[in-house]
Amino acid sequence: MANGLDDVVAAETVLSDVDGAGGHLTIRGHSLTELAGHWRYGQVVRLLFDGFFDELPGDDELEKAIGNARVEIFERLQPMLAELPALDVYSGMRAGIALLPDGESLADALRLIAAPAVLTPALLRLGRGEKPLTPDARADHANDMLRMLSGTPSPALAKALDTYLVTVCDHGLNASTFATRVVTSTQAGLTSAILAGLGALKGPLHGGAPGPVIEMLDAIEASGDAAAWLRNEIARGERIMGFGHRIYRVRDPRADVLKAVVRRLGTRNESGRRLAFAETVEQAALDVLKVAKPQRSIQTNVEFYTALLLEAAGFPKEAFSNVFAAGRVAGWIAHAREQQATGRLIRPQSRYVGPVPDLVA
Ligand code: ACO
Repeated sequence: MANGLDDVVAAETVLSDVDGAGGHLTIRGHSLTELAGHWRYGQVVRLLFDGFFDELPGDDELEKAIGNARVEIFERLQPMLAELPALDVYSGMRAGIALLPDGESLADALRLIAAPAVLTPALLRLGRGEKPLTPDARADHANDMLRMLSGTPSPALAKALDTYLVTVCDHGLNASTFATRVVTSTQAGLTSAILAGLGALKGPLHGGAPGPVIEMLDAIEASGDAAAWLRNEIARGERIMGFGHRIYRVRDPRADVLKAVVRRLGTRNESGRRLAFAETVEQAALDVLKVAKPQRSIQTNVEFYTALLLEAAGFPKEAFSNVFAAGRVAGWIAHAREQQATGRLIRPQSRYVGPVPDLVA
């Protein structure tokens, strides 16, 4: 029995396929490289939702509906926002989402798509003593998220965030998507399912890794010796954040997409300097891991360059998982609908290995 359900097939899906040996990600028949940088996030939401909601409008209409949902979320949750920043920004976002109706309609789904993009900048602004900015229903989703954080972004930055949201929109039966499907299988509503996904995404072995990647880069820069720092971490039994994956045995294809995005943001500015440094750390980490864990192929994962991209976009590291959630929520919703259509409760078995009662005749 595998404690981590390795290699267990627990769902059939038309949504995405992770080819761990080849290093390919397919999303509804499209390769990641076909979508990232070419399709807007709103278009990819439509691609994922297609067939899972009746009367799904076309791309433009759906993007408008997402814009309207951002405004609705803001108006609905703004009176409560001031109470939420006492929590960390991820828990604050989750608490805000928990206040949404637990329905199953397209309107419920679009509110859930909109919520992380609205709540994250609002909570960050409140946390630094600034007033939250009202969403602009007509703006592109990624552009508006950045605008609500710190004013109108450059087109390059808005494009970078849009590409990021597309890159992380879905990824097979990862831990958070599985959690979402388990909750949906009980016939709970979409909000309950998304809250389960958010809980699973938070941990550092899943979506919580990019914040620690920044801490690692800072610590390595201060130490002045990447290889020694990394060797010492492994000797202490620590994991190197941004490396390793349950499925990929080669480089995570999302890492390359995001690295190219960071490179396009400029090579002569702070993000270019950070990228050059990160590349040296990446090589050192791959070398150290090869020696320390020869039995396992441990390669760069999506979180390594996520950290650089979201840092360049102006998000503080404590909000990185929020932005991940803003992209992944589309995949969670589509998986929830797909699971619901099976009508089957997910209920595996455990093997009892505890003490047995004395059976006295
Ligand atoms: N650093 C050091 N050692 C590692 C790492 C790492 N990043 N990843 C795996 N290993 C080692 C383990 O210590 C273990 O070594 P051992 O056999 O000597 O005990 C061996 O590789 C196998 O580890 P498992 O835990 O069985 O591998 P698994 O496939 O479960 O790990 C995981 C996947 C959890 C992502 C792991 O690689 C890890 O912890 N990485 C760091 C955190 C991270 O980057 N998370 C983001 C993942 S991407 C995502 O979820 C979006």
